[in-house]
Amino acid sequence: MNDQYSTEPALASLLDFARQAALNAYAPYSGFRVGAALKLTSGEIVPGANVENASYGLTICAERSALVRAVSQFGPEIRIEAVAIANLNHAPSPPCGTCRQMLAEFILPEAPVIFPAADGPRTMPFSELLPLAFEMKLK
Ligand code: THU
Repeated sequence: MNDQYSTEPALASLLDFARQAALNAYAPYSGFRVGAALKLTSGEIVPGANVENASYGLTICAERSALVRAVSQFGPEIRIEAVAIANLNHAPSPPCGTCRQMLAEFILPEAPVIFPAADGPRTMPFSELLPLAFEMKLK
């Protein structure tokens, strides 16, 4: 464990949801089973798992799986206040760049993101994971 937040009860519990979600992963091609759990400001917890496809590029990561589920279920006004990520492979898995960009639309900048790092769960504020997200500001 490298991380001061990993024992914080709310995040530890969110991590349990992510681990549970990973059990539902569909990953026959990579064998890498990932789960994510989003805590919304409404208090709802929304899990997701990676879902792969024979056409490899169509695969959706656990984080985006949870995100599209959250918006579909609760609408576009949702705000994410914490994210937990787990995998069943005992490997580091910070969220990929695509997932960071997708999360950026709905997440609070200071939201903690806990993910598996080389020496155990690591927590970082979202704004440090993606400091310069692309935004579309129409005139
Ligand atoms: N994967 C995730 O679910 N989240 C990430 O942030 C990175 C990668 C999945 C996609 C694919 O099914 C497997 O892990 C191997 O890349």
